[in-house]
Amino acid sequence: MALLDIRNLSVDFDTNDGTVSAVSDVSLSVAPGATLAIVGESGSGKSQTAFAALGLLARNGRATGSVMFDGQEILNAPLSVLNRIRAAEIAMVFQDPMTSLNPYMRVSDQMAEVLTQHKGMSKRDAVAASVRMLDAVKIPDAKARVRLYPHEFSGGMRQRVMIAMSLLARPQLLIADEPTTALDVTVQAQIMHLFAELQQEFGMAVLLITHDLGVVAGFCEEVLVMYGGRIMEQAPTDPLFETPSHPYTRGLLKAIPRVDVATHALDTIPGSPPNMLHPPAGCPFEPRCRWAGEDCRAAVPPLDRFAPGRSRACIRKPEELT
Ligand SMILES: Nc1ncnc2c1ncn2[C@@H]1O[C@H](COP(=O)(O)OP(=O)(O)OP(=O)(O)O)[C@@H](O)[C@H]1O
Ligand SMILES: [Mg+2]
Repeated sequence: MALLDIRNLSVDFDTNDGTVSAVSDVSLSVAPGATLAIVGESGSGKSQTAFAALGLLARNGRATGSVMFDGQEILNAPLSVLNRIRAAEIAMVFQDPMTSLNPYMRVSDQMAEVLTQHKGMSKRDAVAASVRMLDAVKIPDAKARVRLYPHEFSGGMRQRVMIAMSLLARPQLLIADEPTTALDVTVQAQIMHLFAELQQEFGMAVLLITHDLGVVAGFCEEVLVMYGGRIMEQAPTDPLFETPSHPYTRGLLKAIPRVDVATHALDTIPGSPPNMLHPPAGCPFEPRCRWAGEDCRAAVPPLDRFAPGRSRACIRKPEELT
């Protein structure tokens, strides 16, 4: 059974200018211990998919569909249910650690609080467990540094503190939304390496949200490519990189910096994402797609399974995309 099973999730926001369709008909599932990435440019609906699942949408947002976690419907569930799940079973790590860390509390106090409140531990045991977790995320001299305040850590170390804190309750699922985006490339690589180690060690499932396909390889088993609030392509990671089947995925792959090729400018995808106040009637990527034609404007292409574990939403055949 899937740990997280999202079916036909749509998210709309009411604004003064009309309704923004942020997420349309997204289905995905994450098995226990599995790793799935959601990849796409800014505004493609990645974060709102996760926020809707956890009941964290802004007030003007509405979600429809179904989100099952561990066999229980949690979409639009009562706050009591969501609070329990968010405290103990699903942890979330954000791009900016300061959205989760309290600047006015010592790391020891805020980490220990997770365990005293949710696991009924004594303060002393909770601090000891916090130090062990800081060790696990490779913060040097954790025993002394647990006494520091968040701002006394560097950006990369602060991200490690947040990861340690999110793992304290031993969640079954970790949702990481752009966890390395604010960090420089070397630190990014270290944090992703750490994620991979922790994922193995703790056996939790990970849903990684990123605009950067480059960080996905070597960490996630499966990738879901989103654009304009919809899934464009879904595939195991290696086949996705080897034989991308959707024009948008091809564009994203070309935009990954490669150390082995001396290029001056990356091939960015020309044009910009659609305005979701007035989503295109057909394929959302059509205005930017070099293979697009009149037929692409007629209707939203269905997400078709064309090989085991692989789906694509494009009316052109993969072999036509040359
Ligand atoms: N409260 C809101 N009211 C109106 N529109 C919103 C609101 N929150 C998000 N949106 C819109 O929903 C769409 C999807 O946003 P989302 O945050 O999921 O993007 P994303 O893929 O996570 O992008 P990024 O990489 O920039 O984080 C965007 O067009 C965004 O402007
Ligand atoms: Mg986002």
